[in-house]
Amino acid sequence: MALVPLKRRRRAPSPPAGPLGAGRFPAVVLCLVEKRMGASRRAFLTQLARAKGFRVDGAYSAAVTHVVSEQNSGDEVARWLEQQREECGSGGDPALLDISWFTESMGAGRPVEIESRHRLKVTALAPLRQQMAPYACQRRTPLLHSNQLLTEALETLAEEAGFSGSEGRSLAFTRAASVLKALPGRLSTPEELGPLPGIGEHSRRVIQDVLEDGVSVEVERVKLSERYRTMKLFTKIFGVGVRTASRWYQEGLRTLVDLQERNTKLTRQQQAGLRHYEDLNTPVERGEAESIGQMVQEAVQRFLPGASVTLAGGFRRGKPRGHDVDLLLMHPEAGREVGLLSRVVSWLDSQGLILYQHSQENSFTLHEGPEAPGSRDVLDRFEKCFSIFRLEVRGSPGAARGWKAVRVDLVVAPVSQFPFALLGWTGSRHFERELRRFAGHERKMVLNSHTLYDTRRNLFLPAASEEEIFQHLGLEYVPPAQRNA
Ligand code: UTP
Ligand code: MG
Repeated sequence: MALVPLKRRRRAPSPPAGPLGAGRFPAVVLCLVEKRMGASRRAFLTQLARAKGFRVDGAYSAAVTHVVSEQNSGDEVARWLEQQREECGSGGDPALLDISWFTESMGAGRPVEIESRHRLKVTALAPLRQQMAPYACQRRTPLLHSNQLLTEALETLAEEAGFSGSEGRSLAFTRAASVLKALPGRLSTPEELGPLPGIGEHSRRVIQDVLEDGVSVEVERVKLSERYRTMKLFTKIFGVGVRTASRWYQEGLRTLVDLQERNTKLTRQQQAGLRHYEDLNTPVERGEAESIGQMVQEAVQRFLPGASVTLAGGFRRGKPRGHDVDLLLMHPEAGREVGLLSRVVSWLDSQGLILYQHSQENSFTLHEGPEAPGSRDVLDRFEKCFSIFRLEVRGSPGAARGWKAVRVDLVVAPVSQFPFALLGWTGSRHFERELRRFAGHERKMVLNSHTLYDTRRNLFLPAASEEEIFQHLGLEYVPPAQRNA
């Protein structure tokens, strides 16, 4: 299948893997940190050590026992190690050593005993936190983090504030949660919060309660409240937003049965949402998302060979399951994508694979300029189809009837806008919001899922990849797996 694989950050060339196997000292596997040492010195030291019979690996893996760096602080190397562990998906607990250990070992022709003066000092979370950048798009936020209990509490309050129409309050809780997600370790006392950016008074109180008592009374009260529970129930219907849910709540509706019994007027989309409520609120597994990607890819190939289908959204960020499947359609020759979506959808429909769909035409035009209404919103103007697929499932729990309803968004991106669309549709929502805020406040640029516009120079900045968009913004590239803000 031509699902485009996750783009990997380009790495500086590593020294050749070299003689693998144990070397003369089987208990020692070295890895040299390139930062500040430089590529050529690193290559030289690698050769030197190998000549003396040491095993030196070009890239970090769980096999590495000794990490050696030069002129880096312990916290910098600890952070580097975190990143390596995430990128290679394996753990390991190597000693973090200063170059002095390496030099002495080379002199002795064997690994000298590690003394405390060789070890880099890692000072827990404090210095890392001082480096915490204020915008989420300047930080790396992995999928798994160490402060789940705290972020869940804050996100409940963010959701509740959103249900009450308090966007500002909702954003404040979301920001605080997002900062905690980027912390490299577990917060154990409120004092450790120190000078962290983006954590307001209210969030601090909640964090303190959870750290001290295990729960926040305020959060527990919200979770039990009739309004929160009802709003959650209703907004989980496909096609129902906060405003509709709120109106129903005020009209006294409390359950899905109420909606039916009181003959509540529903749009076609909401009817479909209600009909498939249970399925659509059962997480979509990665394998299911990939099957759907393949189905769409096959349909796309029928009508436009050479076009690609890319899995975006949470799955591209590495989530094992999600609430829907976000697919981007593109053809590398400009204009060839026109007319593709309706054919694909009609064909899938004729095969009985679509339970619901509504499509939206492309309404983007460059001539409107970057400040056109909607251009700052999350909503974009691509041709797209919001749908519910009928996915055959076998052997999975709850699949007694042999199929499952799955929410799928199909989005057509012209090739010149594709990197912007990919960036915009990969999320997370908070990461996107922060990217746009950073672009506007710090760079006087307007970023959306179509283009990047420089308002100082009055020009659009084209990009052939996501990396180029980060470059235009003067931001370090953040790979999708680190955008879980
Ligand atoms: P989703 O809502 O699908 O979220 O939007 P997700 O991160 O994939 O998580 P799941 O699906 O709940 O598991 C994915 C990205 O697409 C953008 C959102 O801003 C988000 O960044 N998006 C979504 C749009 O740009 N426009 C839309 O109409 C919907
Ligand atoms: Mg999604």
